[in-house]
Amino acid sequence: MIVLEMGELYLLVKNNYDIILAVLLSGLVTSFLTKKLKKSSLDAIPGRLGLPLVGESFSFLSATNSTKGCYDFVRLRRQKYGKWFKTRLFGKVHVFVPSVVGAKAIFTNDFQLFNKGYIKSMADAVGKKSLLCVPVESHKRIRRLLSSPFSMDSMSKYVHKFDKLISERLKNLADQGKCFVVLDFNMKIAFDEMCDMLMSITDESLLNKLEKDCVAVSNAMLSFPVMIPGTAYYKGIKARENLMTFLEEMITSRRSSKERHEDFLQSMLDRDSFPDDEKLDDLEIMDNLLTFILAGQSTTAAAMMWAVKFLDENQDVQNKLREEQLSIRRNKPPGDILCLEDLNKMSYGLKVMKETLRMSNVLLWFPRVALDDCKIQDFEIKKGWHVDIDATHIHYDPELYKDPLQFNPSRFDESHKPYSYIPFGSGPRTCLGMNMAKVMMLVFLYRLTSGYTWTVEDQDLSLEKKSHIPRLKSGVPITLTALKDDN
Ligand code: HEM
Repeated sequence: MIVLEMGELYLLVKNNYDIILAVLLSGLVTSFLTKKLKKSSLDAIPGRLGLPLVGESFSFLSATNSTKGCYDFVRLRRQKYGKWFKTRLFGKVHVFVPSVVGAKAIFTNDFQLFNKGYIKSMADAVGKKSLLCVPVESHKRIRRLLSSPFSMDSMSKYVHKFDKLISERLKNLADQGKCFVVLDFNMKIAFDEMCDMLMSITDESLLNKLEKDCVAVSNAMLSFPVMIPGTAYYKGIKARENLMTFLEEMITSRRSSKERHEDFLQSMLDRDSFPDDEKLDDLEIMDNLLTFILAGQSTTAAAMMWAVKFLDENQDVQNKLREEQLSIRRNKPPGDILCLEDLNKMSYGLKVMKETLRMSNVLLWFPRVALDDCKIQDFEIKKGWHVDIDATHIHYDPELYKDPLQFNPSRFDESHKPYSYIPFGSGPRTCLGMNMAKVMMLVFLYRLTSGYTWTVEDQDLSLEKKSHIPRLKSGVPITLTALKDDN
């Protein structure tokens, strides 16, 4: 090893002063440039983060509280920064991911590189065993066991039930000749249908009581989690307690009775004697029953409301849909109710439904949190950042959908690029109730359009304030006129 004495070191520095200075300077410049480059690649996604905790939360809340809806916040930023932008909301950095490549990167790495963020109020409201909250290992098992009653085959049992309910209620309203709000009608229909399919509950007063509690739980999901009487959180937690007591009693009474039901709960209880990993425990059943109702009611009802609105604005589409439905009706005995085979014949009806979901975007974006530093396309994402798959932007991208503002069901004559049509998400968290939603929508559209014409009594396009699901403030009030039977 070379050991230099102080005198030798002094001479070395003195004689090579210029070289040492050059080395030191180049070191400094390199380190400065490395930091600068690192910083600029982190800053590659444009946007404004604002103050650490507040960020742009007030602008977001102000958009949510306006009749333009919370997506206006996203729209305005995109105008300013371009397709990709970042912001800070409630202390967290959010990146809005606008592309099919980005959506694919997140969906295909769900649970590995990304997961849903933990929201305390949501976990407290829907329960820790809900699919929306459980960790990956339990999610796989619970989802596998919950899935079979939601397959299209299993749904066939419920088509006639849904059909009977919808046709009776529409007939009553048409007979009374009264104007009614489509959104309210569909919220009730969706709730009643789900309670029937999940637990065979049809008693009107019980349904009303349960719905009141479910609404309170739903309002608590994104509320501030403090147990102070009068707050949305407090009311939601109390309502959850009522619902859990009710479900617990129902499960106990089902187990002690010999009567069998044709419903989702029965299919879960039929597994009582199975090994542990082939059945759900009672809390898993109860939390997920509640999850289905909360995840399924307002989404499906909003989609049906938009279908009525879009069909009213596009009479040619309405007429074409009616033609298909009447041809199905003519081939059935008079008064006959619908079955799954009839729904399979509704090829144009299916496209109307798809186009409604493309344009209405009842879930505007799908939020995830990055579990590690990573890259999406060429953008660097830091661990802990929120990445929001912007389904709305993808569904309105003119490069994916020609004339995206045009309601044109025939665009689905052709198949679309993977991940360009994602109203039900994709990957391990794809909507579990997708088939149920499709059945409810197709039956509703069939009964409405093949039986009636309608007049929309309020054309106001303002959105409901403070709603995370885009819905018209008016809820679309309509009056029905029955079609003559000779159609
Ligand atoms: C038109 C109606 C509906 C739409 C547009 C819709 C949309 C979605 C979307 C986009 C997701 C995935 C969200 C994400 O990736 O973060 C989802 C998940 C889910 N949906 Fe739906 N949904 C609808 C109706 C329903 C119905 C009727 C039910 C139940 C009966 C339901 C139950 C669920 C559940 C349980 C999940 C969570 C799945 C999981 O995390 O594994 N949905 N839905």
